[in-house]
Amino acid sequence: MRVLVLTGAGVSAESGIPTFRGKDGYWRNLDPTKLATPEAFARDPQLVWDWYRERRQRIRNARPNAAHEAIARLAHQTEEFLLVTQNVDDLHARVGVAAEKMVQIHGDIFVTRCSRCEFERHEYEQEHEHGLPRCPDCHALLRPSVVWFGEQLSRNELERVEDFLGGGPCEIVIVAGTTATFGYIIDWALRASRDGAQLIEVNPEETPLSRFATQQVREPAAIALPRIVDEVITLG
Ligand code: APR
Repeated sequence: MRVLVLTGAGVSAESGIPTFRGKDGYWRNLDPTKLATPEAFARDPQLVWDWYRERRQRIRNARPNAAHEAIARLAHQTEEFLLVTQNVDDLHARVGVAAEKMVQIHGDIFVTRCSRCEFERHEYEQEHEHGLPRCPDCHALLRPSVVWFGEQLSRNELERVEDFLGGGPCEIVIVAGTTATFGYIIDWALRASRDGAQLIEVNPEETPLSRFATQQVREPAAIALPRIVDEVITLG
């Protein structure tokens, strides 16, 4: 059985991490052009770093929920499996989804990289420093290793998704906790489910993907995914 899972911020909502466009979402109160673009970083890097550090701390204090655990179980039980998450938090990884079975397509908030050279470091446990971090190699500003609006997705991560999709159609495609704002999310879900696969959408609200779904599960992910994964594993 081949399984593709696509997740978004809604999967981490029940762990206390705000979504972006949902109720109390980040973009409801904050302006993404001031916080999540290369121009914003050039204009006011301290403001951007302060926000990412606040988010990092909130994620460090958070715990994975039953949705993360269910997806990890499915990953363990399914040989041909890929999780493509838009989430920059580490909650999927913390419950043991292997790196080779996961693509963080929008990056990892705990990775700090140089805005000029190849230098990077991990800061999962704690911040390496405060203030404006500079590259120890070339002295340029360091930035969070996430994909900002207007930036390209990582070629390497895109290739991994394409390799998986190229490996043949899936039997099961699960899309959970995303508004499917970006066309590539819809494209990947439809391509993976092209040969009559089950396309299961888990989201309390309707999205542009809903009309393509074979099942629309209008429930919170931490409630629905353990049940759905049990069914899929029993099927498998
Ligand atoms: N369970 C399942 N879905 C939920 C839950 C929940 N408990 N709570 C909210 N949702 C749904 C909302 O209904 C909404 O459709 O999750 C979705 C969250 O959507 P967004 O906030 O748009 O998050 P996402 O789709 O991940 O955003 C994509 O946009 O801002 C950029 O880079 C950022 O990765 C992010 C990308």
